[in-house]
Formats: sequence, structure tokens, C-alpha cells
Amino acid sequence: MFSPQVISSFEQQETPFYYYDLGLLQQTLNACKQAADRFGFKVHYALKANFNEPILEAIANAGFGADCVSGNEVAKALGVGFSAKDVVFAGVGKSDREISSALKQDIFCFNVESVEELGIINDLAQKQNKIARIAIRINPNVDAKTHQYITTGLEENKFGINTWELNDCIQVLKSSENIQLIGIHFHVGSQVKDLDVFKSLCLRVNEFNNWFAARGFNLQVLNVGGGLGVDYYQPDQHAIVDFESYFQVFDQFLEKKRGQEVHFELGRSLVASCGSLISRVLYIKKGLKKNFMILDAGMTELMRPALYQAYHRIENLTSNSSIVKYDVVGPICESTDSFGKEVELPESNRGDLIAIRTAGAYGEVMASRYNLREPVRAVYKND
Ligand code: LLP
Repeated sequence: MFSPQVISSFEQQETPFYYYDLGLLQQTLNACKQAADRFGFKVHYALKANFNEPILEAIANAGFGADCVSGNEVAKALGVGFSAKDVVFAGVGKSDREISSALKQDIFCFNVESVEELGIINDLAQKQNKIARIAIRINPNVDAKTHQYITTGLEENKFGINTWELNDCIQVLKSSENIQLIGIHFHVGSQVKDLDVFKSLCLRVNEFNNWFAARGFNLQVLNVGGGLGVDYYQPDQHAIVDFESYFQVFDQFLEKKRGQEVHFELGRSLVASCGSLISRVLYIKKGLKKNFMILDAGMTELMRPALYQAYHRIENLTSNSSIVKYDVVGPICESTDSFGKEVELPESNRGDLIAIRTAGAYGEVMASRYNLREPVRAVYKND
């Protein structure tokens, strides 16, 4: 929901732009941090969801760690004030340069995604005379019941190490002096709405935790990844996710061993709600069967609908005429450049301001310059 003052501030701005409500971000962070602290859980923010500096600074100041998936993300996290002891580095394809640089920074942990990578990290750590802390990312074979493009936890996926490779991991670990296994890591997918999925994950984590204990490994960390979904349909009613119920599942079903820490890697649930893509109507095309609303924002600014058929709520901020159905599309020369079909909106005109909601996560970060578009701008509200 946008106040009249906010909407009138939009009138002065050139569109399209991302609008971030840093007050809402802060409330979300507080809610998550308080709930996590109550259970003694540690949350790393997944930078890939949004790496704008004001957002990262707020998250670092709120006491979160950082989950990075590239050398640049590690550098960015350290640059905005996350401390190296709170940085984890994941990804199926870490380059030698990225690994070496993260080793130099003494980050907390590498989440390792293949048997081969274990050996490479060991070699690179040896060159620096260091011992790299690592967690093995295990593919738990849990169905995330989310869109197939953002499901990651099923077997024969490019992510993680399959269960039948764990014995090989143990062999490598035994013969490698420059890596130390400190934990196991999981991530089943993103935009997970059904908390039972996390219950299933917990039961799998318990099995692996026991498996390693039986082989003499005292794991310090159980990292259960991220994936908590947000409500794209009712952004105002459910602006802040129910973190309490989410953490409760892990508190209830994870069987921690003495001294073990539980770590999370949340992205979307922390930053999605605070961001909207603000655009103007360029043209209305009235057809025989359809009306097209052509916006000045397109898939270049927000790729999720084109890539995952994702739903984002669309609102006209400047008209309250009677309701008409529009296919809301962008200006890009691609048929998939559409934000929604048959969307019910007040009758709209050229120049009306349109908000595409819940776009703070995986929105601006996935923008592209296709069609030589201008880089998309960001506008922040501070209170
Ligand atoms: N940890 C790992 C290992 C991940 O792969 C991801 C997300 C996260 C944590 C954070 O997950 P979250 O809490 O944000 O669900 N671009 C897609 C989402 C891709 C998610 C990739 N991995 C989208 O727009 O829906």
C-alpha cells in the first residue's frame, strides 16, 4: 500500500524504477532476527536475492551473516560490513580465483557441491598454508513442491552431492589435511509455501547427521539453506512472513547434537516485500477480444514472469475508475515480455503509475540490458 505522499513523490520520477521501503525492510529483519534468536538459530542472508548497498547495509547492521555464490558477492559482503566469520560461500562452479580469494579473507565456510571441489579447495588452501572450513552440500531428495525451475533438492540435480557419493567424500576428507569438515548443508528450493516440506527436510538432515556421527565426525553446523516463500497475492495483508512458524518446524523436528548450531540462508523472505517496480502506462491498445496495457517497464527490468510464469500483483496507483481486464505487457521485442494476462485493473490511461509488487527479491538483480535498455534505477524510502 502506498501513501498519497509516496505516490506524489513517484510523479516527479522518471520511470521505470525500483522502489524500496527501507522501513518495511527493517521491520522484516527485526521480525526474523527476533524469531531466530528465540530458537538460537543463525541466519545468513542470500545476497543473490538483492545486493543493493542500502539493503545490504541494513541487513549487516541487523546482525545477519551473508550467503554468497560468487567471489564478487563475497567481496561485496565484506565491503558493506559483514564480518568474514559470518560469510559462507556456496555454488556449483566456484573458480580457483574465487576460492583462493575467499581463503585469503578467512571466510567462515565453503559449502562444497562436488567431490572434485573438495580436492581443489584442499590444494588451494595448502598453497596458502591454511585450513579451509567446509560443509558438504547434500542433495536430500526432498520435493520442494514449487516451480520446477526453482526446485533444487531432488536427486540428479546439478546442485549438491548425491548420497551415494558420501563415502567418496569421506575418503577425500581423510586424506586431505587442508580442509576441515564442520557441517552439512542443504537447500531444497525456493518460494516454498508448504512448511511440511521443511519438516521432511529436517527428517533427512537427522539421518545424515547420524550417518556422519557414526563415522566419527562431530559436525558443528547443520545448514538447512533457505527457500521460505512469500505471499505474492496479498502483499499488504502478509507483508512480513511468519518466521516464527517456520523456525518452529526446525526447532521441533531437527535433532541437534550437543553444541551443534543451526544455520539458515534466507533471501526472498527478507527482501521481496519491500521492493516494487514502478512503471508508467505508455499506451493502451484496445483490441476485439483483448485490451493491452503497454508499460515502460519490461522483462528487462523484471524477468520473473517471463522466466518462471511468476505472479506479481499489479496495481494502478493513479486511477480508480471501473474495472477492465488488461494483458499487461512491456516494450521488449519478445512475446514472453508480459507481466500478466487478463489482469483486472481500473480503466487506465497513458501516464498512469503502475506498481508491480513484491519485486524486492530476484527482481533488480536479474535485470538485463537486452534491447540496450537503460540500467534500471533504484529509489529508497528511509523511514
Ligand atoms: N541457499 C541456496 C543454496 C540457494 O540456492 C538459494 C536460492 C538460497 C539459499 C536462497 O533462497 P530463498 O530464501 O531466496 O528462497 N530467481 C529465482 C529464485 C532462485 C533461487 C536460487 N537459490 C526466482 O526469482 O524465483
